[in-house]
Amino acid sequence: MKILMVTPELVPLVKVGGLADVVGALSKSLSLLGHEVRIVLPKYAGLRRVEDAQPMKDPLIVHLGGHEAYARIWNCTLPDSDVVCHLLEHNQLYDSPSVYRGPSGDEADNAQRFTFLSRAAIDLCYQTEWIPDVVHCHDWPTGLVPLYLNTTEADRPMGQAASLLTLHNVQHQGWFHRNVVDYSGLPQHVFRPDGLESMGQANFLKGGIYHSTKITTVSPTYAAEIQVADGGHGLHNLLHNRSADLVGVINGVDTDEWDPARDELLPARFSADNLSGKQICKARLQEAFGLEVAPEIPLFTVVSRLVEQKGLDLLVAISDRLMSEMAIQIAVLGTGETALEEAFTALSQRHRGRFGSFIGFDNELAHLAAAGADSLLMPSRFEPCGLSQLYAMLYGAPPVVRATGGLVDTVENYSESHSTGTGFTFTDPSPEALFDTIGWACSTYYDRPGDFQQLQQNGMRKDFSWALSAGTYESIYEQAMLSRAAAFVGQKKV
Ligand code: ADP
Ligand code: GLC
Repeated sequence: MKILMVTPELVPLVKVGGLADVVGALSKSLSLLGHEVRIVLPKYAGLRRVEDAQPMKDPLIVHLGGHEAYARIWNCTLPDSDVVCHLLEHNQLYDSPSVYRGPSGDEADNAQRFTFLSRAAIDLCYQTEWIPDVVHCHDWPTGLVPLYLNTTEADRPMGQAASLLTLHNVQHQGWFHRNVVDYSGLPQHVFRPDGLESMGQANFLKGGIYHSTKITTVSPTYAAEIQVADGGHGLHNLLHNRSADLVGVINGVDTDEWDPARDELLPARFSADNLSGKQICKARLQEAFGLEVAPEIPLFTVVSRLVEQKGLDLLVAISDRLMSEMAIQIAVLGTGETALEEAFTALSQRHRGRFGSFIGFDNELAHLAAAGADSLLMPSRFEPCGLSQLYAMLYGAPPVVRATGGLVDTVENYSESHSTGTGFTFTDPSPEALFDTIGWACSTYYDRPGDFQQLQQNGMRKDFSWALSAGTYESIYEQAMLSRAAAFVGQKKV
C-alpha cells in the first residue's frame, strides 16, 4: 500500500507529546511490513536540523481559497528506514519555533498553519505524481484533509484515496472563526452541523470525524470512553454515531529508541535478567535532580506535559504530606501550565534533597527518569493511551496510574495474593486515592521486595513493540480502501 501520513509532529524531528513518537514508529513499522510510507510535516523554525534534507527543485503550489500560495519542500528519510519525509517550508506560517503554542498562548494563525498543511499534503501528491491508497491523519491539525478528499478532490485522483483519522486526544479540537472556510478553498456547504460547523465556529476535529473513511483512537478503553458524555468533550454523540468505523488500537513502543538493554542515552544498561545497571541509573538520576544519592530509598518520577489532563494537581496537593509521612523521593520532569511548574519548583525548594524538579523538555533526562526510577506516577484524569507508562514498565519502574483510557489497557494491577501485575492502579481521581496508592507502592518496595522485583520483571518482559498494532493498522487501511472504493461505485450509480 501507499500510505501518506499527515502530521503536526514527528520523532525525531519535532515533538510535543506522544503523537510524535507514534507517527515516527508506526511509519517505520509499516515500511518494514513492505508498504510505501511518506510523511508530510511543517518545517517549523524549531525543527531539529536535518543534515540530509534536500530541497525539491520546483516550489509546491498550494491551492487555497481564491489564491495560490507557495511552499518549498525539503525531502529526507526517517533515520534507519525507507520512509520519506516531506518538510513543508513557509516563511510566514512556520517561522515560529513552536508547534501549537508559544509562551504567550496558541499561535494566532493556527487556522491557516494547519489548513495549509492539509491542503499542501494533497497538492504535493499531485506534484510528485504519487497518489496514496490511504491518507492517515493525526488529530485536529489534519482534520481538514478528509473534507478536501470528499469535496474539492471528489472527481480527481486524490478523491479515491481512503482517509483514516487517528484521535490521539479528543480534548483538543481546533476551533476557529468560520472564515477559515474561505481561506481553505473548501466549498461553503461543508460548514454545517453535520460537518465542520460547531456552535457557529469551525471545528477541525469534528469535520474530520464526519468526513474520514475510518477513525481510530489509541486504546480500546478510550474508544469507549469518548462515546459517552463524560469523555467525549462534546463529540460523544457524533463518535457514537460513527462507532461502526471507530476502532481503538493501542500504541506501541519504538524499541530502537526505548530498550534498557540497548539505550545509548543511559549511563548503564540493564535487562529483566540483570537489573544491576538500574542502580547506576538511579544514582545518576538522583544527582541530576539534586536528590540524596541513596539506593535504598524508593524514587518516584513524573515525565509529563504539566497540564490538567495529567492529574498532577493531585500530586501537588499531597506532596507535603508524602514528604513528611513516607521515606520516598520524587523527581518531576515536565513543562506546561505555569501554576504547576511553579508548584513543583516550590516543592523542590521546600524539600531539598528529597523532591527534585526540572522544568523543561529534555529527551535524555526522560530516558534517565524511566531507567533510574523505582516507579512512575501517572494519575491522569484521562489518558487516550499514554506512552510514559509503557516506557516505565519496560525500564523496570512499575507505574502508579489512574485506571483510565490506555492506562487500563496497558497496566495490570498488582495482586498481593498472586504476586502478579505490572503496576499499581487506582480509580477515584482524588488526592487521597493517589496518596494511598503511592503508599501501597512504597510498602511493597520496603516490605515485599521480592514482589516488587517480580512486578519490575513482569513489565520488562511485556511485548509493547509495534509489531501487533502495525498489523492492526494494516487491516484497517485495507478496510478503509474497500469502503472508499464501494462509496465510489455507489456515487457513480447515483
Ligand atoms: P502525551 O502525548 O499526552 O504527552 P504520552 O505519555 O503519550 O503523553 O507521551 C509523552 C511523551 O513525551 C513521552 O515520550 C515522554 O517521554 C515525553 N515527554 C513528556 N514530557 C517530557 C519532558 N519534559 N521532557 C522530555 N520528554 C517528555
Ligand atoms: C496524546 C495522548 C496520549 C497518547 C498520545 C499518542 O497526546 O494524550 O495519551 O499516548 O497522544 O497517541
